[in-house]
Amino acid sequence: MIGRREFLRRSALATTALIVSKYSSLNGQVSSDESRIEVLLDEPLGTISPNLYGHFSENLGGVIYDGIWVGEGSKVPNINGIRRDLIEQMRKIKAPVVRYPGGCFADSYDWRDGIGPADKRPRRTNFWEGVEPPNSPASHKYDPNQFGTNEFVHFCKLIGAEPYLAANLRSLPAEEFYRWVEYCNSPAGTTTLADARAAAGYAEPFQVRFWGVGNESWGCGGNFTPQEYAVEFRRFATWAPHFGRELSFVASGPNDDNWDWTRGFLEEIVRKGPEQLRAIYGLALHYYAWNLSRGRTQDWNQGKGDALNFDAVDWYELLQQGEVIDSLITGHWQIMGEIDRRHHIKLVVDEWGPWYKPGSEATAGDILEQMITLRDAVFSGMTLDIFNRHPDQIAMANCAQLINCLNSLYLAHEDKFCVTPVGHVFEMYAAHQGGQSLRTIFSAPRVHYDRDSKPASFAGLQGSASLHDKELVLTAINPSVTESREAGILIRGASIASGAATVLSHRDIHAHNSFSQPDAVAPKGQSVETKGTSARFTFPPASVCKLTFTLA
Ligand code: AHR
Repeated sequence: MIGRREFLRRSALATTALIVSKYSSLNGQVSSDESRIEVLLDEPLGTISPNLYGHFSENLGGVIYDGIWVGEGSKVPNINGIRRDLIEQMRKIKAPVVRYPGGCFADSYDWRDGIGPADKRPRRTNFWEGVEPPNSPASHKYDPNQFGTNEFVHFCKLIGAEPYLAANLRSLPAEEFYRWVEYCNSPAGTTTLADARAAAGYAEPFQVRFWGVGNESWGCGGNFTPQEYAVEFRRFATWAPHFGRELSFVASGPNDDNWDWTRGFLEEIVRKGPEQLRAIYGLALHYYAWNLSRGRTQDWNQGKGDALNFDAVDWYELLQQGEVIDSLITGHWQIMGEIDRRHHIKLVVDEWGPWYKPGSEATAGDILEQMITLRDAVFSGMTLDIFNRHPDQIAMANCAQLINCLNSLYLAHEDKFCVTPVGHVFEMYAAHQGGQSLRTIFSAPRVHYDRDSKPASFAGLQGSASLHDKELVLTAINPSVTESREAGILIRGASIASGAATVLSHRDIHAHNSFSQPDAVAPKGQSVETKGTSARFTFPPASVCKLTFTLA
């Protein structure tokens, strides 16, 4: 008997084999290459929502205080208290949506603490206080509430993103959720809370559309069973005030491969009638790649690897872990379809990324902060490619977390700031946003490695492609730490007028950017050989590559 994951894996392999054998019968230069990429222009998969390129910023460690918020009187360049460098970078990557204030923090947060005059706001014990080290700043342990709803929404406005607020379901009643919606969305002059918003300088409603109804309700968000949470969700979502704005509620979904959560939650939701499904916009899936123990343990602390000190096997193991998200998306989607037959509900992968053990922080005392290397860039490129290949199943995804945390795009401390290799990947991949995802076949020899005396292997090339009028964007990773991969590329259905490439790589797989060396890992432009409907490109070892073709 095989498990669900094994079934999905075997089905995917069988499909690939079929496609590859069909492809091998093609004549010409590309078909004789050892590595090939075939982009099928007439096989669209769906539109890539810009929201797949979303972000997550929790009131945790140095994410908000120091990372985003420096305060209006700060010597750090800022716009209304928000770090200027961050704003400028996020404009470049076309940040579409940002989730806040958690994470686990969300289910401990009273939004009322973060509104009104700054000097009247209370200091509260942060959810994460218990795991803060003695040397962390007071603002990380005792939330000064200087950054609240107004500041967050203003930050989103400055970078051109939509806010996605996660509401407290564990420790506040539903009424407080409705009042938060009222504070954000009730029209000017209509309610006392609209007046309070106006008094803070925001007369016009914030028009917040995305609302998370709790976070990880199977764990820090209340330790509910899926059935108990479904009852709570229905209660919170029923008759929430709309103020003329469509509200999109995201239900707390499964961790990893917890199929029972997805099934149990949705079955309980429809026990009251199938129309109840309409209250749900998205089901949140959280997936962190953390276990680098090579099968030795499932212990959360023991199993983690090091962010900076790793060997080639750890590199491949992290990518193996990351690739699992593909089968998680397919598996949860299948269960969702058994209950929600019209697939009204989409997946919202609102936390993803690698999670290492502590010790590589750029700033001492910043909990969950880790150094971001080229390995994380390749991991992130691979993950974004997977999302691009599931445009109809995923409505949103949020990388955990934006700055000074897990898979961060940026690191900052006081007046120091740098873009990490993951930040560069987001800038490169922004070109996919809003494009038509195209079925693309990657065929390359697998990378083989020795996993503690057992043979293991990983796909030699993988990626995604999208079309934007005459512009075709093809992104791919070469995971091999030693071998470059020359590939023939065939655009089936059009000829190529011109092509160009951007490559993110480094001879050292541990390479990373730091405050003293902010450009150690940076994308470089490269030319692409093209002829008719074909192109040829050599993907360097350990690289994330973007090829852009203008079609004739
Ligand atoms: O991203 C850090 C934490 O991971 C979040 O607070 C929580 O939702 C998840 O377990």
